[in-house]
Amino acid sequence: MTETMIIGGGSGMGFALARVLVAEGEDVTIVGRSADRLATARAELEQAGNGRVQTKRADISREEDVAELFAGDQQVDHVAVTAADATGVYGPTARVSTETARFILDTKLLGAWLVGKHAAGKVTGSLTFTSGINAYRPNGSNTIMAAANGALASLASGLAIEMAPVRVNAISPGWVDTPIWNQLGMDKQAAFAELAQRLPARRIGTPDDIAQAFLAVMRNQFITATVLHIDGGHRLT
Ligand SMILES: NC(=O)c1ccc[n+]([C@@H]2O[C@H](COP(=O)([O-])OP(=O)(O)OC[C@H]3O[C@@H](n4cnc5c(N)ncnc54)[C@H](OP(=O)(O)O)[C@@H]3O)[C@@H](O)[C@H]2O)c1
Repeated sequence: MTETMIIGGGSGMGFALARVLVAEGEDVTIVGRSADRLATARAELEQAGNGRVQTKRADISREEDVAELFAGDQQVDHVAVTAADATGVYGPTARVSTETARFILDTKLLGAWLVGKHAAGKVTGSLTFTSGINAYRPNGSNTIMAAANGALASLASGLAIEMAPVRVNAISPGWVDTPIWNQLGMDKQAAFAELAQRLPARRIGTPDDIAQAFLAVMRNQFITATVLHIDGGHRLT
């Protein structure tokens, strides 16, 4: 029986990972900012299997929140970080506010660093971050998010040395159908149908595709300091 904390587990990829684990009878703690989102996710997870589901409210960009997540003597087998909020980040750099850029870095990069800082000594198995395809295949938009995603590879490598034998990795998803796309205000299904044709896999990713990749790096004892790409071949396009 393992215990996994998923920061960002209230929706999207993190939720898919939680659902797979709970279905296998594993315990999970899902973390996010919205109590309502966490409660809804918990109710759904409790229907998915026998694993114990806990929720904790925390904003990964706030050090006091992250410190509180890992306060006390309790240890956790695995920590997965999927938290991100892409509000205001889409578009060319000249049109993105500096405030938004700081917000992205605070959440996606510094938040991950805070988890490394405070989870040290508390996580026993693995720590996995979520990078993203735009770090490896820039698209002329959300460049600050791409920079944060790229930096997560270096963060994972550095922490893999510092936290060894705890394994530290990053997952790099391509286009995946999750609520994060809702912020673009477009016809998601029509856009996905068009985007899918550009990929060698000829489809958009599902949250479960990414959940399975998380499980691979969490459980394979020889994977550390690695970025695992699950992008349907997007980097070749
Ligand atoms: N979907 C894609 O196509 C795609 C592609 C490449 C990379 N990614 C990356 O994949 C990861 C997962 O994204 P997703 O698509 O699953 O998005 P999602 O469904 O929007 O999930 C993100 C989760 O993070 C939580 N969150 C946001 N800001 C937070 C904060 N400051 N502190 C704690 N929790 C926070 C959100 O809950 P609250 O709002 O309640 O806090 C939400 O549950 C992200 O890192 C994203 O950048 C996604």
